[in-house]
Amino acid sequence: MNEKDFIPLPYTKTLENGCFTWSAPSNIALVKYWGKTGIQIPANPSISFTLDACKTITTLAFEKKENSGKYSFDFLFEGQPKESFHPKIEKFFDVIQQYVPFIKNYHFTIDSRNTFPHSSGIASSASGMAALAMCLMSLERELNPEMTHVHFYRKASFLARLGSGSACRSVKGEMVVWGEHDEITGSSDLFGVEFDGEVAHIFKNYQDTILLVDKGEKQVSSTVGHGLMNGHPFAQQRFTQAHANLSKLKKALAEGDINAFIEVVESEALTLHAMMMTSLPYFILMKPNTLEIINKIWQYRQKTGVPVCFTLDAGANVHVLYPQQYASEVLEFIKAELLVYCQNNQYICDQIGKGAENL
Ligand code: PMV
Repeated sequence: MNEKDFIPLPYTKTLENGCFTWSAPSNIALVKYWGKTGIQIPANPSISFTLDACKTITTLAFEKKENSGKYSFDFLFEGQPKESFHPKIEKFFDVIQQYVPFIKNYHFTIDSRNTFPHSSGIASSASGMAALAMCLMSLERELNPEMTHVHFYRKASFLARLGSGSACRSVKGEMVVWGEHDEITGSSDLFGVEFDGEVAHIFKNYQDTILLVDKGEKQVSSTVGHGLMNGHPFAQQRFTQAHANLSKLKKALAEGDINAFIEVVESEALTLHAMMMTSLPYFILMKPNTLEIINKIWQYRQKTGVPVCFTLDAGANVHVLYPQQYASEVLEFIKAELLVYCQNNQYICDQIGKGAENL
């Protein structure tokens, strides 16, 4: 498939007004996307767990305009007008316009809220862009009712990607691959696809407890971070490594090899941050407490044999990953030994989820 396949056929129906509500979850990458070309084309393939509890709920209300020409919208966050979000949405609408030409005929009211605390350091761009893309696709499906289910989800992921790269992995569950990879049939740089490889029982309902180490604004945005992979001395090796790590992970998931899983996942997290530390300019997003937690997790795993591991996204928070069967003892360990390193002892219990939902 290429980009042109997402330009719609002439619409066969019209719709005056209405509204759609979708929720879309956040996701956490196991093999990380870091570095891109063109308009959100990933430099390497990635795979993520779709989350369940951390999500954005968006209502898109629409009203046909007298004079179509340019889209217009109001944006509300938790019911209150939020001007500061306008530039991001405007940019998104400008980029997707050619794929959803109907938007110029409508005035939209977008009302969005997150289930996770506002300044938790959890990026809402993935869940937010995915929820908005789902709402737009619901409207487009009304205008072109012959659209297939497969196309509906694929295009939602394609649009979400244009808003925020990793958002394309938030449309579906439970694991999603984004970016071409030899061993993942149907994988694409343009949209996320459900991971359809074998997954051993131990990896079902995997738990993710998110430790909120630092809730402040990041000093360096993901956009800038991705950009610093251009001309990065280790970029090519890193991209090659990501392909190899996805192959290793696929094998570990099929074989239920949790040690191999842990090795790939922790190495990916540290590599992501190593890329930040070795770019020019260099930067560090981990905090001292991030390292304290990592060391505690290693000690606990060594001592007890409980297969708990960590991953990081582009920030200081730590995602603690473990099989469901160990949930009670790992939570006890987290409460006893890790919460002291979290801001206001805050954490979020999450697990693998199924993707966006129409509400
Ligand atoms: O989608 P972005 O541009 O916010 O980039 C996300 C990058 C990481 O979270 C660090 C890795 C990933 O694959 O999600």
